[in-house]
Amino acid sequence: MTSPANTSATPYGTLPPSSTPSARKPLSLPRLREMQAHGEKITMLTAYDATFAAVADAAGVECILVGDSLGMVCQGLTSTVGVTLETMRHHTECVANGLRRSQATAWLIGDLPFGSYHESKEQALRSAVVLMQAGAHMVKLEGGGWTAETVRFLVERGIPVCAHLGLTPQTVHALGGYRVQGKGEEAAATLKQQAHELQDAGAAMMVLEMVPAALSAELTKELTHCATIGIGAGSGTAGQVLVLHDMLGMNLGKMPKFVRNFMEGPDNKTASVRGAMEAYVRAVKDGSFPVNATHAW
Ligand code: KIV
Repeated sequence: MTSPANTSATPYGTLPPSSTPSARKPLSLPRLREMQAHGEKITMLTAYDATFAAVADAAGVECILVGDSLGMVCQGLTSTVGVTLETMRHHTECVANGLRRSQATAWLIGDLPFGSYHESKEQALRSAVVLMQAGAHMVKLEGGGWTAETVRFLVERGIPVCAHLGLTPQTVHALGGYRVQGKGEEAAATLKQQAHELQDAGAAMMVLEMVPAALSAELTKELTHCATIGIGAGSGTAGQVLVLHDMLGMNLGKMPKFVRNFMEGPDNKTASVRGAMEAYVRAVKDGSFPVNATHAW
């Protein structure tokens, strides 16, 4: 039965004060592992505020990433390098509030920003605690090699970790731009080695960004204990992620090759933001997005 609160309008695009519980079970690490084992594609979108996060959850998106991409899409920065831990804490809390109020089931990942985990394992733990206490279920950090020790330190202390390899935007200045990574034998071998080290350290998920489709498909088969989530990494990963504003067509610059505008086309049945998210979930689940020939390298 719908409560009276749910039938009255809510102002300023806010959430119903008391939503009915979802029929879906809350996402958890065991559930994500089960999905990976059964080859059920995992869906992830970024969100930075309460309402978009709740709508994404209602559309069936399983994982919400409060990405430091918010520096570019919300704060107007030219890279993610200027995003602070306090900003990430604030947006993580906003998203967690939205998910809680709408009785959502999504798995919430908070992105550790540049400089918040680079000094030491202890600094990484302190930063991760800030995001976990703001409502995150897992933290994400970029890079391989030296990060494996940090991942192990966090995981041993009960903090689930998502790694991030390939194009790592926090190091864009060192990489020389937003380019495909892991191309060529040597680069591919390094990326593979780092991915295995991160899995061995306990990373339960791994974003692979702008990595050749063949390499990420191979890695996905090899990493049986770590679910790969691709963005510009082809269709062979365990799941997919897109930046919310990109998949809603809100990009005045050149849209990256790996993005589809889900606001457009007949798949968005209700011609709405929720419709676009539902179309994204369907397309990822049925394998019609991404298309290697169009969205990958
Ligand atoms: O910050 C972010 O949104 C990300 C995604 C692009 C994976 O790291």
